[in-house]
Amino acid sequence: MKAIILSGGKGTRLRPLTYTGAKQLVPVANKPILWYGIEDIVAAGITEIGIIISPETGGEVQAKTGKGDRFGANITYILQEEPAGLAHAVKIAQPFLGDSPFIMYLGDNLVQSDLNLFIDAFKTRQLDALTLLCEVPNPTAFGVAKIDDEGRVLALVEKPKVPPSNLALVGIYLFAPSIHEAIAHIQPSARGELEITDAIQYLIDHQQKVEARRIQGWWLDTGKKDDLLEANRVILDTCLQSSVDGDVDDKSQIIGRVSIGKQSKIINSTIRGPVIIGDNCHIENCFIGPYSSIANEVSLIEADIEHSVLLKGASIIGIHHRIVDSLIGQRAQLKEAPQRPKALRFMIGDDSKIEVM
Ligand code: TTP
Repeated sequence: MKAIILSGGKGTRLRPLTYTGAKQLVPVANKPILWYGIEDIVAAGITEIGIIISPETGGEVQAKTGKGDRFGANITYILQEEPAGLAHAVKIAQPFLGDSPFIMYLGDNLVQSDLNLFIDAFKTRQLDALTLLCEVPNPTAFGVAKIDDEGRVLALVEKPKVPPSNLALVGIYLFAPSIHEAIAHIQPSARGELEITDAIQYLIDHQQKVEARRIQGWWLDTGKKDDLLEANRVILDTCLQSSVDGDVDDKSQIIGRVSIGKQSKIINSTIRGPVIIGDNCHIENCFIGPYSSIANEVSLIEADIEHSVLLKGASIIGIHHRIVDSLIGQRAQLKEAPQRPKALRFMIGDDSKIEVM
């Protein structure tokens, strides 16, 4: 079995971060989202992985992720010139996939589930497609499956006004090579994309075997800021282990599960976990509260932060309000006004969102 991970796309919902970087590389608990998917796939014994990349962010994805040695995998990069849809990504991956069955994994999804369970079901039931489903409170916002009592998929509907169930399609699919023929027969949708749901519907309409299984753990789509913060909270809650490599002075207090990277300095500060702090950070006179992930080379002086994700090289200096529920981009600077009048002064990138009291 092989795998493809979709790491192209536009990432419009995570602007402005995605103007300068791939959304799949935004870190959750200081690790790129994409890497969680790679690790899950390798843990299921699949080592031939194709990653779909876009012309805009592909170079960065490739440079950061490499050929796969660090994961024990062999990674092939497949360039998709335009984000022409999930089924289009499968189409251009066909030379890589050959006639192998495969897993398709959306690179901005995080799933807590052992993929082996689904691979076993896919193989023993000799399916053409297996979709993973998760119960959601708001099915109108998702692709939704109608299934019978035996788990056979009867129909798939994108963002239905009247949902046939509360089971949303998780961004992980298993396919037999018959999916290629289905894709060859579908037309672009109203939004101009080759939809994977249309290809699966084609299989269903042609009496191929399409089944679904529910995942037991959580599923997080990290496409938007609040989803990403939620993913960060869940991963810190479930996976973070305490480890302190940096220097913590006598006046600082470390409470709960906290990980502090190499050469980071914590001076006169309180860190209340779960919190992860990367390498080469400077944290002085601060309170860092639960569910914060602070990437490498971040400077925080006189700052209070909680339930936030700070990317590499960001700095916050002398802000006397607590910062919560925030996503702060690479090298972004927030600091107290150095001169009178004490006023707010901004240089904010396109599509940024700021809330002030
Ligand atoms: P989406 O989140 O559906 O699309 P997007 O990345 O364009 O995001 P937005 O809606 O914010 O503009 O895509 C799911 C995943 O699949 C994501 O990792 C991007 C990837 N993708 C491709 O690789 N190629 C494609 O043609 C599309 C549509 C998505």
